[in-house]
Amino acid sequence: AATMLIDTYGRVATDLRVSLTDRCNLRCTYCMPEEGLQWLAKPDLLTDDEIVRLIGIAVTELGVTEVRFTGGEPLLRPGLVSIVERCAALAPRPKMSLTTNGVGLERTAGALRDAGLDRVNVSLDTLRPEVFQALTRRKRHGDVLRGLEAARAAGLTPVKVNAVLMPGLNEDEAPDLLAWALEHDYELRFIEQMPLDPQHGWKRDGMITAGDILASLRTRFTLAPEDDGERGSAPAERWLVDGGPARVGVIASVTRPFCRACDRTRLTADGQVRTCLFAREESDLRGALRSGAPDEEIARLWRVAMWGKKAGSGLDDPSFLQPDRPMSAIGG
Ligand code: GTP
Ligand code: 5AD
Ligand code: SF4
Repeated sequence: AATMLIDTYGRVATDLRVSLTDRCNLRCTYCMPEEGLQWLAKPDLLTDDEIVRLIGIAVTELGVTEVRFTGGEPLLRPGLVSIVERCAALAPRPKMSLTTNGVGLERTAGALRDAGLDRVNVSLDTLRPEVFQALTRRKRHGDVLRGLEAARAAGLTPVKVNAVLMPGLNEDEAPDLLAWALEHDYELRFIEQMPLDPQHGWKRDGMITAGDILASLRTRFTLAPEDDGERGSAPAERWLVDGGPARVGVIASVTRPFCRACDRTRLTADGQVRTCLFAREESDLRGALRSGAPDEEIARLWRVAMWGKKAGSGLDDPSFLQPDRPMSAIGG
């Protein structure tokens, strides 16, 4: 369909990731320095109305079927529940999910479910409170665990848990995390660390690879590929644990990139379209919105932006340069 978000490689973006804020209440070492970052100024942020309008255009004019709310930490956005509620009223109704660090989720899970949110992915890298504090520089481990329970109780399922393993901190925890996830019925995925931190601390030699993670898990579990290698556009490769039905996923963005199947388009909290996590260019929709452009014009600008999507992340190119925005301002 000519109206969809297609690129020159024939990929169609049906999955929209919307960053609702660049702020966060944790300070994960692989994401932010202790002091935080220079946050976006309030007038630069899209308003709730602007966000709902852009999502409406994506859904009704551009063929987007899934919307994921991210951050920074999206629970810090005061209008989150009402944004979800208004998006649930769109026709066709998009599937809606949230990627959160889980702090405060205990309080909002029920309201989010009532507003129409389908499911959540919660970041949790460790089961050890002291390691959590070293990794995130905050004492919120208990909040996250309670947030996870609340999400399941509210029916925001399947509840997925994202874990990044860091050398010297939690690199030995993969089997413990999996045992815990199986016990609590969370779908655990391990994510390879990507070069998206503003401190530029990422080193390919230092990172824990999908291969390392699988080897570590296999010291305690048997893993079999879930299907015949076809994972569609999902970033996680999934493995059946001890014969199934439980599964574990590995998101190997660095060592086994999945860009060829990428079906994503992204919107930053200040209204820029990004074609990729690693894109070096952005296309401004906020300016068009605020100068009174009609829906058709905004849809056209979005299509033009996606037509320029690159083949891949460029991580393997010798000339690779990190994007200027850190992960927290793009929306992992
Ligand atoms: P579902 O599988 O639909 O639940 O979502 P998801 O895994 O796409 O969402 P989530 O926000 O939990 O993302 C988990 C991680 O996947 C992110 O932190 C990234 O590391 C990775 N990821 C998400 N989108 C992309 C992408 O477009 N490119 C790459 N390389 N990695 C991505
Ligand atoms: N590499 C990989 N994952 C990251 N996340 C944040 N920064 C990085 C990075 N540099 C993760 C968070 C969260 C998910 C959305 O992205 O831990 O689980
Ligand atoms: Fe916040 Fe997510 Fe960054 Fe952690 S990884 S500091 S939760 S934005």
